[in-house]
Amino acid sequence: MINYTEKIPNNVDLGRDRVLQRALEHWQPAYMGWWYDMGPNESHNYEVYLRTAISVEPDGWAQFGYVKMPDYRWGIFLQPRDEKREVNFGIHKGQTAWQEVPGEYRSTLRRVIVTQGDTEPASVEQQRMLGASCPSMYDLRNIFQVNVEEGRHLWAMVYLLHRYFGRDGREEAESLLARRSGDADNPRILGAFNEATPDWLAFYMFTFFTDRDGKFQLCALAESGFDPLARTCRFMLTEEAHHMFVGETGVGRIIQRTCEVMKENKAEDPSDVRALGVIDLPTIQRYLNFHYSVTLDLYGSDVSSNAANYYTSGLKGRFRETKLNDDHVLTDTEYPVSEVVGGKIITKNVPALTALNERLRDDYIDEIADGVGRWQRVIDSAGIPFRLTLPHKGFHREIGNFAGQFISPDGEVLSEEAWKNHEFEWLPSPKDYAYVLSLMSGRVVEPGRFANWIAPPTRGVNNQPLNFEYVRFN
Ligand SMILES: [Fe+2]
Ligand SMILES: [Fe+2]
Repeated sequence: MINYTEKIPNNVDLGRDRVLQRALEHWQPAYMGWWYDMGPNESHNYEVYLRTAISVEPDGWAQFGYVKMPDYRWGIFLQPRDEKREVNFGIHKGQTAWQEVPGEYRSTLRRVIVTQGDTEPASVEQQRMLGASCPSMYDLRNIFQVNVEEGRHLWAMVYLLHRYFGRDGREEAESLLARRSGDADNPRILGAFNEATPDWLAFYMFTFFTDRDGKFQLCALAESGFDPLARTCRFMLTEEAHHMFVGETGVGRIIQRTCEVMKENKAEDPSDVRALGVIDLPTIQRYLNFHYSVTLDLYGSDVSSNAANYYTSGLKGRFRETKLNDDHVLTDTEYPVSEVVGGKIITKNVPALTALNERLRDDYIDEIADGVGRWQRVIDSAGIPFRLTLPHKGFHREIGNFAGQFISPDGEVLSEEAWKNHEFEWLPSPKDYAYVLSLMSGRVVEPGRFANWIAPPTRGVNNQPLNFEYVRFN
């Protein structure tokens, strides 16, 4: 029997909700089994300096301290309810926001929640071996923080399934623990969450690109007319910000270190740069191309009747829906999408309602471009003439209008053969992966030390010094 308020910090009155308690009594041990099997490898005895969400107050929601990860207090938090909140878009616009699942949207909503929920444990599975090759104790602590918070995000979605979807919800909650990233028979639902995350450059790219997809999906769901979903997602966004920070600063620190070494040694040629034990900039560009293109697919088809239905029904809004200045119904508006016609990429207008995936993808791309610009400044201030670029939206896509096309990073439509001839100029080759992995053959865990291929961060976690003992191995 679990002592709920002790063990599971929450603001959903869990102590009084018998039905939810019973559901969690079954699920919680299964979750722990999953964590022991699929959580960070060999980490169960470590004491990690982690933050735990303990309330929803903006100025005190997290508490820092040493925790063994299996003892982490995975909590259930929803942003406090606003009694006046309405459905803000679609055909139900103006109704009071729903506190229970509308019967007609039950299976659609469940699907939306399951698809989001599935990404959370998937990324933990993808990252589980990386502790063995961490570049510092600081970075090791950060990946563990990301992992426990993805675990908490799974709890957040499972709370919704248990609380609002009865038996189907409980079955879905079990399936979330049964699928496995990359498994041939029972894979995770979305493509990018079945790719390997083989090394730390891939990890930082993943948290920069793919966790940011998470942010945009959560932002769209945070607009939902189903109020418990909206409030759950709002709170998850506070944690997502840290994941993207880990990614952006991680790649930035790798770039910084590469530039330092290039300058010190007057090395320019990638093979000379590699001989100095850092990651050459063209390889970083290829990783960028891979993670960007794989993540763009997560937004789905450019033209989608599902996306239109989610919106019209009031289930999933646009990025910053309530800040947008239009009718929030979108029946008379259009939105541009691209496609390949006769070997050329053309843009045409389609009904805006059907183009909501594309629109969310474009919002995402704007934010990504800003982050890549910040990486570029690191290169520029080192005086190195190298430009990081975002490839064309159609490059290396498997979903939507560009699927089956062979588009170069510059946006040229090529034949399959021509594209394949350049594939490993544009995407990481097995040799690139092998090289990056060769730098990460063991872990660096002396407090304050950093692997040669990455610069230290500008500051430690929670104002602690860089040589703080962020992980005690016992
Ligand atoms: Fe998450
Ligand atoms: Fe995340």
